[in-house]
Order: sequence, then C-alpha cells, then structure tokens
Amino acid sequence: MSLNAVLDRIDEDLDSAVARLLDLLRIPSVSTDPAFAGDCDTAADWLVAQLQDLGFDAQKRPTPGHPMVVAHGDQDGPRILFYGHYDVQPVDPIDLWDRDPFDPQLEDTAKGKVIRGRGASDDKGQLMTFVEACRAWKAVNGTLPARITFFFEGEEESGSPSLVPFMQENADELRADIALICDTGLFADRTPAIVTMLRGLLGEQITITGPSKDLHSGMYGGAAMNPIRVLSGILADLHDDTGRVTVPGFYDGVPDLPEAVADQWDGLNFDHGTFLGDVGLSDPAGEQGRTALEMLWSRPTAEVNGIWGGYTGDGFKTVLPSKASAKISFRLVGTQDPHAIRDNFRAFVQERLPTDCSVEFHGHGASPASQMSIDAPAFEQARKALSDEWGVEAAYVGCGGSIPIAGYFKDILDMDAMLIGFGRDDDAIHSPNEKYDLECFHKGIRSWARILEALS
Ligand code: BES
Ligand code: ZN
Repeated sequence: MSLNAVLDRIDEDLDSAVARLLDLLRIPSVSTDPAFAGDCDTAADWLVAQLQDLGFDAQKRPTPGHPMVVAHGDQDGPRILFYGHYDVQPVDPIDLWDRDPFDPQLEDTAKGKVIRGRGASDDKGQLMTFVEACRAWKAVNGTLPARITFFFEGEEESGSPSLVPFMQENADELRADIALICDTGLFADRTPAIVTMLRGLLGEQITITGPSKDLHSGMYGGAAMNPIRVLSGILADLHDDTGRVTVPGFYDGVPDLPEAVADQWDGLNFDHGTFLGDVGLSDPAGEQGRTALEMLWSRPTAEVNGIWGGYTGDGFKTVLPSKASAKISFRLVGTQDPHAIRDNFRAFVQERLPTDCSVEFHGHGASPASQMSIDAPAFEQARKALSDEWGVEAAYVGCGGSIPIAGYFKDILDMDAMLIGFGRDDDAIHSPNEKYDLECFHKGIRSWARILEALS
C-alpha cells in the first residue's frame, strides 16, 4: 500500500474527477421545492451507480421525503461512515447568476480555476472529494484500507426531516467506529480545519392577518390596522440595543466560553476586517462585548431570512394588505432547547398582537447545537494528515452553520463525528454564482486519501 502512488493517481485523474462532478451538478436536486423531487431521486440514482462502480453494495433507500443512499464496502479494517448531502439550495434570485446554475463549468478566474454551479461547494463537490479518494485508492491498491459505508442524504438543506427515524430504524447498519462529514470549510484560504462545535437551527414562519381582504390605503388607512406594521414591530422587538435577543428564556443553556477555548480561538488570529470587508461590511453586528468569532461560533442569533406582504411589484400601489409574513431562523448553541425556544417565540409574538390581528405559525425544522468530543485518536491522526497535505497546521474551529446530523451520530448511534471540509468563505454557498475552487476539490481528495491512511 503506497500513499504516494494514490496521491499521484489523484493528480492524474483530476480532469475526469471534475467531469464526474459536473455530471452530478447538472442534476437540479433542490430539496425544499417539491417541483424538483424527481431530480432528487435522479441524483440519488447517480450516486448509487457511482458507488456500485467502485464495488460498493449501494442502494437508494426510500424515506417519506427524498431517498437516502447507503453503500457498504466489503473490506476489513476500521469501520468508517462517510456522510454528505446531495441536495442543494434553491437558486433564486436567478437573475443574479452569471450562468445557468445547473449548467456548471470549470472557469478561469483571477484567483484560479473554479467549478461554478449550484451545489459545487455545498455539498456535491465536497462529498465527491471522498468518493474520488476512494476511487484512486482502489485503482492503485485494488482494495480500500477500511470498512467504509457511504451515507448520503437528500434533505439536509430543508432541515433533514426524515433523518432521525431513518437513523433509528437502521442504527445497527449505520453504526461505525467514526463518522466523517465533509460539509464545512477551511479556516482560512489555506488553513485546514476540523470543526468541533456547530450551531443548531430553529426555523419559524409567521403570517399575521389583519383585515379580511386587501384594502385601499386611503379609504381605510388610519382606521384599519396594517399587518405589515404589526409584523415590523414584532421583528424590531426581537433584539435590544445591545444586540441581545429578547425572547424570554432565549439564553437558557447558552454556556460561557471555556477560557482554554477562548485562548485557542484568539490564537487563530481571525481577521474580521477582511472577513466582513469581503462582503462590503466593516463592523461585527452581534452582541456588544463579544469577539467576531464568538458571534459566529459560540453565541446564538435571531435572523429574519425573508419578509413579504402588500405590493412589491414594479410601480406603486396604495394597498393596505390583509396579510404580512416573515421567515425567521434562530442559530442555537450549547444546550439551548429548540422546542422551548419555539414555544417562547410563539408566545412572544402572540403577546404583541393587537386586537383584530391573528397569527399563523409554521415550523421549519428544529435541531440543537452539537459539540464534538476530540478525545478519540482519530482527531489527532486526521489533523496530522491535513497538516501534511496543506503544509499548515490544521486548526480546531467552530462553525456558525448547522448540519443536523452531526449531533445525531452521538445521540442516536453513540459514535464520534469528525467534520472536515474544504470550502472557502467566498464560495457563495446558498447564493448566486456558487463555486468550489479546483484547488479545494483537488487538495480535498488528496486530504481524504491521507486521512484514510492515517485512520487505518
Ligand atoms: N454546509 C452547510 C453548513 C455550513 C454552513 C458549513 C456554513 C460551513 C459554513 C449546510 O449544508 C447548511 O447550509 N445547512 C443549513 C441547515 C439548515 C437548512 C437546517 C444551514 O446551516 O442553514
Ligand atoms: Zn451543506
């Protein structure tokens, strides 16, 4: 078994690996929109075929939502479960894309070659890094160095509604010595990272109804309550002047950052000026008295993700609308309880409703934060392998985003999960013109080859 031969093989095969990724990116597997359910199915079939081609016993497994893909290898060695998600976010606003999001392409840019298209970074490009590492390993050695199971989900971007029951029903089949998750980023452009804490997520949609129908805002304005005014007031009330969230009980379960972790994060020398400067901002906007990294990794948030009502088309219309709506998400940390926060938020809204207004709530997923224990030797082994590939010591970091399954591995399967990914901050995940740097794809594949060797 020669790692160098595998790394060489990866280098030689890069063009074909990109071509395979482009094939997967052409499938518009948007999980949140029922119009794309057939495409989610097609993406699952595509992955099954790829894994069968690698000699895995691969199956598309039905759920009440989009299918899972589960594939088992037959080699001996430590049991490793690899997780990724084949679903992607919607593409809107489509007019801000410079190309068709599902007609991906390798592009030359000032900063190097990029693979452009929806899902290039989140998460198709990333999940393919592991598949390609296995492909190269097998081509060189005829076998793999571990007993590998692939577990791909098609609902991550819509809150993973089928995941918990599926994991419970298939616990014995899925349990392994460790889970590897490739759905996060590098710490800095060339600093690899292992994520040790991830925020949880609670999604809520609210619709406030005032008058029974849209009204002329001159004929009724003044006497009739406007639901957009009510909604704006409630949303404005969500934060106080110091940036804290005002929902009662919201901070229950938010831990103090251990001093050792605070010191370690200080040592990362995170440059919030550049991080914010890259997106046209300058001032960290969270709770006063917190560092930018705390705001991103260890503090909870409330954000309005969408707001609508009344007339928003071209021109002008003097309407006093019947309804106003918003989508709100809360990022959670520590042991904050998503269900308690949901109840408290709903009560917070109800208390602020004037006479004649009513509200409807619709929940969109609730997953708690997760904290990874890094005691298992695999963590230091992987850190060394990453450092060898990137030439920079890998960092233990937090992640502001959410990956519901990260915590379920511990809770349901009692196994550790190690989160390693190769995305960059400017990948524009969830945004127009998403991309994955060719360098990240290439070095990502090489990193997994090294990690596989280190773990086995
Ligand atoms: N890959 C992301 C998580 C992520 C975000 C990692 C930012 C690193 C940096 C993941 O696919 C994602 O976007 N998750 C959603 C989850 C939600 C819809 C339940 C998120 O965080 O909004
Ligand atoms: Zn993702």
